[in-house]
Amino acid sequence: MSWHPVPDAAAVTAALEAPASAVPVRIGDTALILTRDARGTLHALANECPHQGAAVCRETQRGAESLECPNHFWVFDLAGTFRGSRLALDMGRTAPPDPAKDLAEFACREADGTVEVQL
Ligand code: FES
Repeated sequence: MSWHPVPDAAAVTAALEAPASAVPVRIGDTALILTRDARGTLHALANECPHQGAAVCRETQRGAESLECPNHFWVFDLAGTFRGSRLALDMGRTAPPDPAKDLAEFACREADGTVEVQL
């Protein structure tokens, strides 16, 4: 594994400037979601739903409390942890922890206006 810079770093870092933001990016053949959670921590997540493989994030989001897959509405927090389906959450039910349903996370780092992901 090695560190890979995210293309178009200026636009990506601007999109991630505020907490609770998410932006879809691609490094080579790997589709990722970069998120900045409410505490300001940067995450690099696979942009591939563990349910049936759909792209979870399709456009930049600001003020996002969570990510929601558009296919069958699985919901993930900005660290990629599965929280439940939208229907169940709206009924007040949360899912038990199940790492198999989490979005895969990759190591990432930012410095001097760039973001790098370890792939
Ligand atoms: S493919 Fe994402 S919830 Fe089904």
